[in-house]
Amino acid sequence: MFSKDSVIGVIGSGAMGAGIAQVAATAGHIVNVYDNNVKSLEKAQANLKASLTKLVEKQKISADQSQSISKNINFVSDLNSFSKCNLVIEAIVENLEVKQKVFSDLEKIVSATCVLATNTSSLSITSIASACTKPERVLGIHFFNPATIMPLVEIIPGIATKQNLAGDVKKLIDSWGKVTVITKDTPGFIVNRVARPFYSEALRIYEENIADIPTIDWAMKEFGGFKMGPFELMDLIGHDVNYIVTETVWKQFYFDPRFKPALSQKRLLEAGFLGKKNGKGFYNYAEGTAPPEPNKDPAIGKLIFTRVLALLINEAADSLYYKIASKEDIDLAMTKGVNYPKGLLKWADEIGPKNVLQTMMVLYDLYQEDRYRPSVLLKQMALQNKGFY
Ligand SMILES: NC(=O)c1ccc[n+]([C@@H]2O[C@H](COP(=O)([O-])OP(=O)(O)OC[C@H]3O[C@@H](n4cnc5c(N)ncnc54)[C@H](O)[C@@H]3O)[C@@H](O)[C@H]2O)c1
Repeated sequence: MFSKDSVIGVIGSGAMGAGIAQVAATAGHIVNVYDNNVKSLEKAQANLKASLTKLVEKQKISADQSQSISKNINFVSDLNSFSKCNLVIEAIVENLEVKQKVFSDLEKIVSATCVLATNTSSLSITSIASACTKPERVLGIHFFNPATIMPLVEIIPGIATKQNLAGDVKKLIDSWGKVTVITKDTPGFIVNRVARPFYSEALRIYEENIADIPTIDWAMKEFGGFKMGPFELMDLIGHDVNYIVTETVWKQFYFDPRFKPALSQKRLLEAGFLGKKNGKGFYNYAEGTAPPEPNKDPAIGKLIFTRVLALLINEAADSLYYKIASKEDIDLAMTKGVNYPKGLLKWADEIGPKNVLQTMMVLYDLYQEDRYRPSVLLKQMALQNKGFY
């Protein structure tokens, strides 16, 4: 369905749109990038130049390649220039009404066969598609930040998306050198759903005074092999993004306590302590400030890690139980989308589903909260003494 000659349109030239455009242009496509804010277009153009210069300096690409990549990208301020596109990827503000309006406007410009995709992180693909006269050509193509570096792309057909479209799009994005997984149109798709406990259980442990922030971060890195601790990662992502994703997923799951956000993070957001980007979050990034020391007690560290990992595995198991994606794709998504050291279901098999269930049951008995209810699939695996693989 797609070829190297397919013309790609990108709407929105912010962090994600600019990255996606660079990826598609590097794969050899002609790419048109539109934004309704001229300043944003200019910034994207300048960033692209700087990014390509860096790649040449680092000898990742040749000067010729750099030239052809920039030649492939047209920054445009008129959406009408999208009439020849074969695929359009929208990466504008995360607002349903605004996205629906853009999709509906776009349909009047593009050809009848042009595929329309959204890079939304948290909105329903089906609801965006519902604004179109041809919802069968709409799907989600969810890149991770930064799009030029993160290998994972989630492909999400909506309820009305025509059969085979996700497969055709998968082939195209694979040809761009990305790792693709197909997932159902459910809140947070795979990664932004399964990863929630990494943050929320760490926050809960902190709020309960079981351990302080540096100790929790240390425990997850030391015993889990995670590249960053949950608080370091939340500070890096920014609480304006991370908290809102948590709250959106929670609301969309009809306030399921499993996804409940934490007040301590909300307060940071209210205070404007967004994290690393503005110098203060859970940690203080002011110059000359030394990060606080963790309490490197192995007993506490293992307890924290075991608890957070059990909740992560439980969420991965539940996603499989509800057929959000295949077990391979769930594991691939977490290793390639958020750099987890291992796929969670594979990890469960190593520990033994029985042991993971036992951790969940201890927490469930202690708190009597639905938040700790074990997944039916985890229970079945433990009962039958089976592994996920
Ligand atoms: N930032 C992330 O980590 C991340 C990761 C994956 C997906 N996403 C999703 O990607 C999308 C874009 O996120 P971002 O971080 O790049 O945002 P951003 O704020 O950096 O960029 C958004 C761009 O869209 C433009 N825009 C807004 N309304 C527009 C309209 N009506 N028409 C044309 N252009 C318009 C803005 O001028 C801006 O340049 C969102 O849906 C977000 O949920 C973000």
